[in-house]
Amino acid sequence: MKPEVSSRQALHVAMASPEIAPFAKTGGLGDVLGSLPKALQRLGLRVSLIMPAYRSVLRSGFPLTDTGVRFTVPISNRQEPGSLLKGKMGGDIPVYLVRADRYFDRNYLYGTAKGDYSDNAERFTFFARAILEVLKLDPPSIVHAHDWQSALAIAFLETQHYLYPELCSAKTVLTVHNLGHQGIFWHLDWHLLNLDWSFFTPRYLEFHGKINFLKGGLVFADAITTVSPTYAEEVKTADQGFGLEGVFQERAASLTGILNGADRDIWSPETDPFIEKRYSLSDLSGKQACKADLQRCFCLPENPHVPLIGMVSRLTAQKGFDLLKETLGKLVSGGVQLALLGTGDSRYRKFLTKLCMQYPDNVGVRIAFDETLAHKIIAGADLFLMPSRYEPGGLTQIYSLRYGTIPIVRATGGLRDTIEEFDPETRRGTGFVFDRYDARDLLAAVELALGLFSQKEEWAALMRNAMQADFSWDQSARAYLDLYRNLLDANDAFRAGGLGRREQFHGSSSVREQKGEVI
Ligand code: ADP
Ligand code: GLC
Repeated sequence: MKPEVSSRQALHVAMASPEIAPFAKTGGLGDVLGSLPKALQRLGLRVSLIMPAYRSVLRSGFPLTDTGVRFTVPISNRQEPGSLLKGKMGGDIPVYLVRADRYFDRNYLYGTAKGDYSDNAERFTFFARAILEVLKLDPPSIVHAHDWQSALAIAFLETQHYLYPELCSAKTVLTVHNLGHQGIFWHLDWHLLNLDWSFFTPRYLEFHGKINFLKGGLVFADAITTVSPTYAEEVKTADQGFGLEGVFQERAASLTGILNGADRDIWSPETDPFIEKRYSLSDLSGKQACKADLQRCFCLPENPHVPLIGMVSRLTAQKGFDLLKETLGKLVSGGVQLALLGTGDSRYRKFLTKLCMQYPDNVGVRIAFDETLAHKIIAGADLFLMPSRYEPGGLTQIYSLRYGTIPIVRATGGLRDTIEEFDPETRRGTGFVFDRYDARDLLAAVELALGLFSQKEEWAALMRNAMQADFSWDQSARAYLDLYRNLLDANDAFRAGGLGRREQFHGSSSVREQKGEVI
């Protein structure tokens, strides 16, 4: 790809996230941060990344160097120390790891099976402050924060610019990957933030008497993105807004949806090192070997003719497991096979384990986080099921397309934006889509898929469409670049008329008024 920004004046974007693959990943957020930066770099941008130095990162053998940087940040009425490690991604993208062992040297990222860590408010206030300390050392043009764990960095920068004068002209972007997680904490944690109480109001960080970290970013960011265009609309509704729909409505002019993509270096049947046999559109024979391998992995009868449905998912209500509790029994008793990999809520784990014991020849379940098995399922299954209650973006359905594994999805968020219903007459479309979050609709969509599975020619056409669908990161990276450029152009125009907004701001009653927004 031809760089769109010459390296001499490369636009510098700093991304902060609680997860960056391969360093740390619990879901798609990690994947996005593991691939979008590389796509932006291919466009000629300079990208740097910041995340916490979790125990798993420190112990997993990634080559990390100590930068020698030591800093302190204000937490409540004390100064908390941290240090900075450096790793690399994709050759030369710097990944800065904020080290503070009392916060991050733990077995898990956010909590144990019993629940979230009780000091998450403090851990991620520290992280947000640390992000800004790190950025001071090499100020970027764009500060791009991801999800609630990084969102406060934007609120701190916008409201306490005097602490971060080096970052005065930086523009801020917040990407929302999942509104189901907002970082909501009781008001007694407010002292940790060192923000004036005037920001603990519904206009700013208060949310029904509590502190909402994500809202802090949403209110103050120069631009907000969601990970699909449909989700950008859905978050403005009471049904999908998780109580923040009013904020999204108010900020609609600064809100866009940019679709996630698939990293072809990692998710391609032609090169995938985890699968039994590689294959491509021109030679699909390897897919049969992958299916047989998957059936063996899950101790299912090895039979190429039985339709095999795959799932790789967090076991949560978001992913449609209430609907699956109603339907999976019916489905598998009809003869299909199911290979499911996931971790999550114990009520769904129990249900799946029981189902597996009830239908040992049809159901294989692995409760684990297993990267290799995820690839084997996405390659070896015939169909990939994602009946999500809501889905901001969704990556596994995009990965499945690349492997000719046909998605059956509910039409929500990014699933609606990426999967097109197959029409046997025109032979257009890439999968099966149902609208309502309803057991009958799910079963009908699966029936339709199974009907087509037995029609070899139609099925081959469908697989071809799926494998040719282009959801690479390049297009999405261009959309982010446009967004950054628009923000910086607006900044220049504003500066041409006088001082920058943070230079003008001196404790005004409304920061957003300073941005020229009508509120
Ligand atoms: P979400 O981020 O909501 O979980 P996505 O579809 O965006 O959903 O991304 C999920 C990512 O996490 C994919 O890379 C998927 O393969 C991976 N994943 C989810 N559960 C597991 C698991 N149990 N083992 C391995 N990978 C998993
Ligand atoms: C979230 C969403 C998922 C999205 C991912 C990456 O975890 O649940 O839909 O694909 O973030 O953006």
